[in-house]
Amino acid sequence: MKTYLFGALAVLAGTLQAAEDTRQLVPMPAAAAATLGAEMRASLLALNEILGLVAAGKLKGAGELAEKELGISAMGKHRSLPFDARPGPHMPPAMHAIGIDGHRAASEFARTAASGDREKTLAALPSLTTACVGCHYAYRIR
Ligand code: HEC
Repeated sequence: MKTYLFGALAVLAGTLQAAEDTRQLVPMPAAAAATLGAEMRASLLALNEILGLVAAGKLKGAGELAEKELGISAMGKHRSLPFDARPGPHMPPAMHAIGIDGHRAASEFARTAASGDREKTLAALPSLTTACVGCHYAYRIR
């Protein structure tokens, strides 16, 4: 029995490894990569705060934060930076589209949370991370 379990885990690990190898490399200037990294860390922080707010029943606050930090409102923040420091223009269109989908999904979540409906807000939580996972499994920058 144990042997089967380890066998299954080995196959799973192999699959994950193979999936990682197929990620598309997207080269970008160091400055753009740094901007992207900082934005990503801020997104993770916002996500953590949103989860905390939802858990505490503070749906209005969760919605406001989601819109401000992850939603459509958070788009175009790097417009004034030099070209080499902006991640967006260095992304292939399909990658960029995943990012935009993520912003749209966060705005949709924000509207749901703003309605104060706890069940619907809980049900919508996974939509906040769909684009994160989709992009990370498809692309790498180094
Ligand atoms: C459009 C693509 C895309 C989306 C969407 C995206 N990421 Fe990323 N993220 C990346 C790439 C590319 C990297 C750099 C990976 C590498 O080093 O190759 C990265 C790196 C990160 C890092 C590491 C940052 C560091 O310290 O360098 C974190 C944390 C992260 N992402 C969190 C998130 C979270 C949370 C979300 C969703 C809210 C998200 N990302 C959505 C593309 C994306």
